Amino acid sequence: MPAKANIGVVGLAVMGSNLARNLASREGNSVAIYNRSPERTRELTAAHPEAGFVASESIEDFAASLSKPRTAIIMVKAGTPTDAVIDQLVAAFEPGDIIVDGGNALFTDTIRREKAVRETGINFVGAGISGGEEGALHGPSIMPGGSAEAWETLGPILRSIAAVAEGEPCVTHVGTDGAGHFVKMIHNGIEYADMQLIAEAYDLIRRGTGKSPAEIADVFAEWNKGELESYLIEITAEVLRQVDAETGKPLVDVILDQAGAKGTGAWTVQTALDLGIPVSGIAEAVFARSLSSKPDQRKAAADLPGPAATWKVEDAESFIEDVRLALYASKIVAYSQGFDEIVAGATEYGWDIRKGEIAKIWRGGCIIRAQFLNRITEAYAADPNLVALLTAPYFRDAISRAQDSWRRVVVAAASAGIPSPAFSSSLAYYDGLRADRLPAALVQGQRDFFGAHTYRRVDKPGVFHTLWSEDRREVEIEAGH
Ligand code: 6PG
Repeated sequence: MPAKANIGVVGLAVMGSNLARNLASREGNSVAIYNRSPERTRELTAAHPEAGFVASESIEDFAASLSKPRTAIIMVKAGTPTDAVIDQLVAAFEPGDIIVDGGNALFTDTIRREKAVRETGINFVGAGISGGEEGALHGPSIMPGGSAEAWETLGPILRSIAAVAEGEPCVTHVGTDGAGHFVKMIHNGIEYADMQLIAEAYDLIRRGTGKSPAEIADVFAEWNKGELESYLIEITAEVLRQVDAETGKPLVDVILDQAGAKGTGAWTVQTALDLGIPVSGIAEAVFARSLSSKPDQRKAAADLPGPAATWKVEDAESFIEDVRLALYASKIVAYSQGFDEIVAGATEYGWDIRKGEIAKIWRGGCIIRAQFLNRITEAYAADPNLVALLTAPYFRDAISRAQDSWRRVVVAAASAGIPSPAFSSSLAYYDGLRADRLPAALVQGQRDFFGAHTYRRVDKPGVFHTLWSEDRREVEIEAGH
C-alpha cells in the first residue's frame, strides 16, 4: 500500500496538470491525481516521474489514496462538469474532508454548492486561481473562500504553491462561501479593462504616429520600467514584437480582430448592475469585445462616414506620453470601480473582505499583477474605509498629473474617429464622480413628470411630487424628518 497523498487534483487538462506538478514540487506534498479519461492520467504520470504522483483510475481509489482530512482540488470546466465531479467526490468523501473548486465558477454557483455540500459535513471551498498555465505551474495568485475550518488545512498547502510577492505568498482566506470566486470574478473584470485600455493605447499610437507594432513594442517595454510596470504591459510588448512565421508580417496584423470571452467579464458587469455599482470601464471592455465579434454588422457599417481628414499627431513623443498618462488614469478608474464592486458584494453577501489583502495577493502570480497594487495596499492600510480608491492621496496626485493628457487623448480619439470606449468612459466616470451638480436632477424631474416617481429637494427634507398637469403645485408625499 503506497503512502497516502495529502492533496489531490481532479481534472488534468493544462491548468489541472500544471497545478498538480506545482503541488508535487513543494516539500512535504504528495499528490493524488484523477482524470475522467485514464489515458490522460497515465500520460501525465509517465511524463513526470519526478512528481511521484499517486495516480487513480476511479474516484473511489482516488479517495482512498488521500490522507484525512481528504483534500481535493477540482480543475474541470465551470458549470455542469464541476457539479458532476462534486457529486462524485461527495459520495466518496467523509465529513471533515475538503473539496476545492479551483475553476472559474460563477460565485452564486459556489454559494449554492457550498450550502449543499456543507449539509453532508464535507467542506466546500471555491477558490479563484489566476495566472494561466505558467502561474499554475510556478505560482499562481489564489483567492479561496469557504469556511475557516477548511482554511486551516488548506492554508499551508495553498501557501506552498502560491506566487510570492515581496516575501509574502499571494493567497489569503478571502471570506466565506463564494467570496473567493467573487473576488476572482472582479480580478477578471479588471483584467478585461486593463487589456482593453492597453489595446486602445496601442491603436491610438499606431494610427496617430504611424509607428510599427515593433516600434510600439519598444514603447511598452519602456513604460514597463515605470509606474505602469505590470505583466500585461510586459506581454503586450512581446505580442507586438512577434512576427508571423508564414507571412513575415507583424503577428498582430494577421490575427483576426474579433476578441473572444469566456464569461467572467460579463459576470462582473451583470453582478455590478444588480449591485448598482457603475463599473463603466469594465463594461466598455466587455462590450468592445462583443462589438469586435459582430463581423456582419461591422461589414455593413464599414462605409458609414468618419472624419474627413486623415490624422497624424504633430509631436509623436508628447502624444505617446499623453497616452501613457491617459492609460494610467483610466487604469486607476478600473481598479477603483472593481474595488467598489468588492465592497458592495461583501455588504450584500456578508463577507468580511479585507481590501488591502486582496491588493496584496494580486501583486504576484495573477494576470493583473502590477507594481501599482502596492499603492492600493498602502491606500487601504492608511484608510480601510476609503470611500473611493481614486480619492486616496496617491491616486489623487496621479490623476491630477494625468488629467490634461487624458482629456487631450480622448478629444484626439473622438476627432480622429478612433474608438476609445474604455479611455473615454473612464474619463466620463471621473468627471461624473467629481461633479458638483449632475443632470440627474433633470432625470428626476422627468421621472416625476411622466410617472409621479417623486423627487427630493436640495433645500429641505421630504419627498415631493409636482402636479404637472394641474396647477403645477408641489405636494409633499412624505414628510422629512
Ligand atoms: C487568470 C485568467 C484566466 C483566464 C481568463 C480568460 O486569471 O488566470 O483570468 O482565468 O485566462 O478567464 O478569460 P477570457 O477568455 O474571458 O478572456
